[in-house]
Amino acid sequence: MPLTFAAMQPAHLPGAMRLSADAGWPHREEDWRLVLDISRGFAALQEGEVVATALATPFGDAAMVNMVIVDASLRRMGIARAMMERVMAAANPASWHLVATDAGLPLYEAFGFRRTGEIAQHQGIVAAVRPSGEACWGTPADLEAIIGLDRAASGMDRAPMYSALSKVARIAVLRHCGGIAGHALVRDFGNGKVVGPVVASSVVAAQSLISFAMSEHAGAFLRVDTGRHTGLGAWLAQCGLPEAGRGIVMRAGTGASGPAGPVSVFALAAQALG
Ligand SMILES: CC(C)(COP(=O)(O)OP(=O)(O)OC[C@H]1O[C@@H](n2cnc3c(N)ncnc32)[C@H](O)[C@@H]1OP(=O)(O)O)[C@@H](O)C(=O)NCCC(=O)NCCS
Repeated sequence: MPLTFAAMQPAHLPGAMRLSADAGWPHREEDWRLVLDISRGFAALQEGEVVATALATPFGDAAMVNMVIVDASLRRMGIARAMMERVMAAANPASWHLVATDAGLPLYEAFGFRRTGEIAQHQGIVAAVRPSGEACWGTPADLEAIIGLDRAASGMDRAPMYSALSKVARIAVLRHCGGIAGHALVRDFGNGKVVGPVVASSVVAAQSLISFAMSEHAGAFLRVDTGRHTGLGAWLAQCGLPEAGRGIVMRAGTGASGPAGPVSVFALAAQALG
């Protein structure tokens, strides 16, 4: 049966959600919509049915490839390769980024991506955690400072992502000398809530933000995707969020590698968004 390729649109979301659910991903239609709203990409259609998806989210000079899924009955036929070719031909960022599943690794290596790190997916029912610092809820007036802090930590301009997230997330902040020294967004995602991005100057500051978010959601199902290098993993497990999976951080292109500034990204917005 021949395939056609179309620019991905909201009308494709129910079909896209069927693909992600079949792949064991927890995304709700709202989670897909949030990514699609700030991304461009393609759906492959067979007799009107969505059988594959691939998106790219532009972040200034960088772009993140995400939501690459092929219907299980059509794998190993070159469809993901065809989708990746289309997505990467449609943009020309200095650097490409993604978080790969084990299944996606060989595909991305064929496109010049190389492994730069690993993400641990922690999730579970939050224990009764006491906030360990001075974090508090922020206000919409903090958004600009938060976007600036993220730029310093990620090296990317993720303003459109933060605008979209701010409509559905609560934002915990650490204030210092009248400015924002760290932040953590909390929003509904999949079958619970996710804490991320978390941007902070130290692991202690990140714990302060996350423990505050946890204290406000005791008993809820919470997910935190954190780089293995952050050192948060054992603490998250003690708080009721054991490791439940992993992702492989990959990048391609010539852009400079991430900044080594005073703040770092301690948790991802989503594996799709970094
Ligand atoms: C990963 C995935 C998108 C690959 O889709 P696909 O259409 O089967 O991939 P393709 O047929 O285009 O294969 C592309 C290349 O990767 C290789 N490849 C694909 N799956 C592979 C696997 N499981 N093991 C080894 N190699 C694999 C193919 O050999 C091919 O290389 P080649 O062209 O040099 O032969 C698909 O398995 C999938 O949807 N998995 C579930 C969702 C997922 O994990 N997505 C990745 C998110 S990061």
